[in-house]
Amino acid sequence: MSDEAFAPAVSEWYAPPESIVQQAHIQDYAALYDRARADVTAFWAEQAATLEWHRPWDTVLDDSQAPFFKWFVGARTNIVHNALDRHVKTWKRNKLALIWEGEPGDKVTMSYWRLWQEVNRFANVLKSMGVRKGDRVTIYMGRIPEIIIAMLACAKLGAPHSVVYGGFSEQALADRIEDARSRVLITCDGAWLRGKVVPLKDVVDEAIHRSPIVEHVIVVKRTGQPIKMEQGRDYWYHELMSLPIASRQCDTEIVDAEDPLFILYTSGTTGKPKGVLHTHGGYQVYTSTTLKWAFDIKEEDRYWCAADPGWITGHSYIVYAPLILGATSILYEGAPNFPYPDRWWRIIEEYGVTILYTAPTAIRGLMRFGENWPARRDLSSLRLLGSVGEPINPEAWRWYHKNIGKERCPVIDTWWQTETGGFMITPLPSATRPFPGIEADIVDEEGNSVPPGVDGNLVIKQPWPAMLRTVYGDPERYVQQYWSRYQQHGWWYLTGDSARKDHDGYYWIIGRNDDVLKVSGYRLGTAEVESGLVSHPAVAEAAVIGVPDEVKGNAIYAYCILRNGFVASAALVDELKHHIRHEVGPIAVPEKIELVVSLPKTRSGKIMRRVLKARAQGLPEGDISTLEE
Ligand code: PRX
Repeated sequence: MSDEAFAPAVSEWYAPPESIVQQAHIQDYAALYDRARADVTAFWAEQAATLEWHRPWDTVLDDSQAPFFKWFVGARTNIVHNALDRHVKTWKRNKLALIWEGEPGDKVTMSYWRLWQEVNRFANVLKSMGVRKGDRVTIYMGRIPEIIIAMLACAKLGAPHSVVYGGFSEQALADRIEDARSRVLITCDGAWLRGKVVPLKDVVDEAIHRSPIVEHVIVVKRTGQPIKMEQGRDYWYHELMSLPIASRQCDTEIVDAEDPLFILYTSGTTGKPKGVLHTHGGYQVYTSTTLKWAFDIKEEDRYWCAADPGWITGHSYIVYAPLILGATSILYEGAPNFPYPDRWWRIIEEYGVTILYTAPTAIRGLMRFGENWPARRDLSSLRLLGSVGEPINPEAWRWYHKNIGKERCPVIDTWWQTETGGFMITPLPSATRPFPGIEADIVDEEGNSVPPGVDGNLVIKQPWPAMLRTVYGDPERYVQQYWSRYQQHGWWYLTGDSARKDHDGYYWIIGRNDDVLKVSGYRLGTAEVESGLVSHPAVAEAAVIGVPDEVKGNAIYAYCILRNGFVASAALVDELKHHIRHEVGPIAVPEKIELVVSLPKTRSGKIMRRVLKARAQGLPEGDISTLEE
C-alpha cells in the first residue's frame, strides 16, 4: 500500500496465506536478493539460460558506452521464438494462449498452435507489403486478438512496432507516426466501448492527412460500421489473410539481442512524447522472470491482466511475458461496468480467472458500485491480485483485498515504468522489496541516501536487462532525462518518482516529482496538455496541474490566459475541452478549465504550479517570496 497522506500512518500487516507461500517459486527472497547483488551479471545470465537462444552471448553486460548499456551482447535470438515457436514443438501447442471476450459478448479462444499460425500468416502479409527488419510499424487498435497478432507478427520479422493507445487522438497519433517514420499502419474500423463504437479508422484517416508518410493501412473489421477505404492505401485484414501469400509457414527473423523490439511513446516533462526503445534480448529475460516470480504463474493459471495492450503493462504482461511462460491469458475488449458493474466479476467467474492484475483507478471506479456486485459472483478461483500504475490508497487496497480477494489473495503492488520494461519494486508472494538484481535507493538532492521515513528521489543504481536503451531518435534526451541528475556519483537512473522507506525497509511510492501526471493511471505530461491548449487560437498561455481526485488519483485542472480579442465564456471553455480531445485525446481533457488574467510566476517567469495547486485545493500557498509582483 502506498499513499502520500497515509503512508506514515498505515501499519497494517497482511501476511500471504501459507498455501501460497508454500508453493511459491521463490522461497527465500533475502538469499536470492543477496546472491543477485553479489554477482548481478551471473544472476541475469542464469535467468537468461532458461530461454532459448540461437547463439549465446559473449558478454552479459557491456557498460563501455554507459549510459548506453548493452545486454547479452553477441547473442542471437527473437522474442517470438521464445513466446511461440518453441512452444508449438511441445504439448503446449494444445494449450490455450488466449481467451478473448468482446464487449458485445462474442468470444474467441486460441491455442498456442492457432496463435502461432495466425502470427505466421500475418507476418507473411506484412512481408508482402514490404515490411523488413528494422521498419517501424504503427499499430492503433482496440483490445482484440488481432492487436496481439499484429505485435507478434512485427516482432517476428524484426520490425519494431509502435503501438499507440486507442484513446489517443489524431494529432497524438500523427506525431507518433511522424516520429517513428512508419510507412505501414495497422488499425481496425472501430472498437466497442460502453455499447458505442470508437471510430478508430476515422482518427487514422485524419492522422495520415496530417502525417502523410503512411503508404499502407491494414484494417481489421471489428464493428462493421461504414468507414472510408482509400484505394491503393487501405486494405482489409481479412481479405489479405485469405490470399495465398498468407501462408502458415514463416521463418522467424533471428536478430541481435540488442536489436529493437518496439518503441512505445510515453509522456515526459516536455510537450513532445518520448519514444522509449526496448530490445529483444534483455526484455525477454526480464519480463518473463519478473512475471514468473512476482505473480508466481503456474501451468494451470488463468491469468488476466486487464490493462490495454497499448501501454507498457500490456506489452510486457499481456503479450510477451505470459506467452514466454506459456501461460493462458484473458483479454476483454470493453468497459468494466458494461452492461452492468459486475462485468469483470462475471468474467472471473466464467473463465475461472486465478490472477487479476489491474490499476487502482479501476478498483476505485468499481468500488463506487458497492460490494454487492462482486458478492453475487463466484470469485473463488482467484488466488492472487496485482496492482499497477499509481499509488494504491489504503481504502482501495482494503476493498480489493476483502471483496475481490476475500482476504485469501495476496495483493502484489508492482511499481515500474514504461522505461523499466518490467516490475522493479514488488512484493513476491513473500516480500515487498526491489526485485532481485535491482538496486534501488532513495536519495536527497545531493545524492545521499535518506533515512527511513524521509521522502527522496527514487533512483536505480545498477542497470537491468529490460531497461530502455534510448529515446528513439533522441539519444541526448535519454542521457539528459534519465542519467545526468546524479552523474557525479555514477550512472544512476532517475525514475522521476519520490518515495520513502519505512523501518522494515519496505518502499512506499509517493508519486511523480516532475511535471508528469498520473490521471486514472494514464501518464500525461502537464506540458503536453499545455501545448495542446496553446495550439488553440484563443489561448495565449496555459498552466496545467493535477489535483487529488477520489477515483482518478489526479484530476487535470487548467488555467488559461486568453489572447486579446477573445472573451471568456462557458462556450469557449467547452470548445477548449473539445480541442484537447482532438489534439491529445479524451484522457487529457481537463476536469476544469479556468480562464484567468494572470498566472502566478516567479520573477524569472516560471509558472508556480505549487501555488496553483494550493489555490485549487483551498490550501495555504506556502512560501511565495519568489512570486513576481
Ligand atoms: O509514478 C509511478 C507510477 O507510474 C509511473 C510510470 O508510468 P508508466 O510509464 O505509464 O507505467 C505505468 C505502468 C508500469 C511511475 O513513475 N506507478 C507505476 N506503478 C506504481 C506507480 N506508483 C505507485 N505504485 C505503483 N505500483
